[in-house]
Parts: sequence; C-alpha cells; structure tokens
Amino acid sequence: MADAPDTASMLGTVPFFSGLDEKKRKSMVSEGKEMTYKTGDSIVREGAMGVGFYLILDGKAEVRKGDKVLATLGRGQFFGEMSLIDELPRSADVIAVSPIKCWALTSWAFAALVKRNPEVALHMLKEMVKRLRAAQSSPTS
Ligand code: CMP
Repeated sequence: MADAPDTASMLGTVPFFSGLDEKKRKSMVSEGKEMTYKTGDSIVREGAMGVGFYLILDGKAEVRKGDKVLATLGRGQFFGEMSLIDELPRSADVIAVSPIKCWALTSWAFAALVKRNPEVALHMLKEMVKRLRAAQSSPTS
C-alpha cells in the first residue's frame, strides 16, 4: 500500500486534487495504489478493456494511436478515464517515455471519487475538453 502521508501531500500539489481539502485527499490516498514503470513500458493498451485510472505523480508518458503521438502527458495529468466512463475498450496506447510513477485507481474507486467530489469531476471535464479541442485543431486529424 502507498505511504499515506507522503502520497497525500504529493497529490495536494497537483491541480487534479487541489480543490480537495487535506482530509479528503488523505481519505482518497488509501483508495489508490502507487505504480512505477520503466521507460518503454506499455501502461495501457489500445483495444483492451479498462480496469484502471492513472494520475501521473512523476515522469512522462505518450498517448499513441498506431504511429501517431496524440499527446505527451506529465506530472499532474491523468489517463485511462475514457474506458472507465463509457465501458468501451481503451482508445489508445499509453507508453512510459521516462521512468514514471502513477497513482492508480480501480474502476469502482474512480467512480466513487467522481461521484463524491464534483471539483474533481469538473477538473477532469475541463481537461477532456482541452484534449478534444487540441484533437480538433490537429492538422492530421
Ligand atoms: P482510455 O481510452 O481509457 O485509454 C487510453 C487513454 O489515452 C484514454 O483513456 C485517455 O486518457 C488518453 N487519450 C486518448 N486520446 C487522447 C488525446 N487525444 N489526448 C490526450 N489523451 C488521450
């Protein structure tokens, strides 16, 4: 299990959780698990059924569809939410492009987090809209 006090303060420094008070953050920490990956590891595979949501605590990952890099994500950014929301297969691969540490939640803990914390849901919606706009303005889309 993750070291609760350290992870709670780390989570407090990323915008995804900055709307939550310390008590709420601490209670969330035990719901998730810290996961580490090496450069080149495949964290999420396109077409697989989704069981996890990931928030990057440190390091970088690329979102790839075939040969195309859709986005590079870093500290404080998340991935894996799409499959958990619509219960369809993963939309893209997510590959570690540096050693990376994530805070990962199961699908049911993710659903509970979103239902209990409108601030978190709103932050996620804003980020998803940003990604949609970036995809719309991509020259190759
Ligand atoms: P999911 O479909 O569960 O698994 C792959 C993840 O990659 C997806 O959730 C999103 O979190 C992320 N993703 C997919 N498309 C994009 C994109 N265009 N920009 C940034 N992230 C994306």
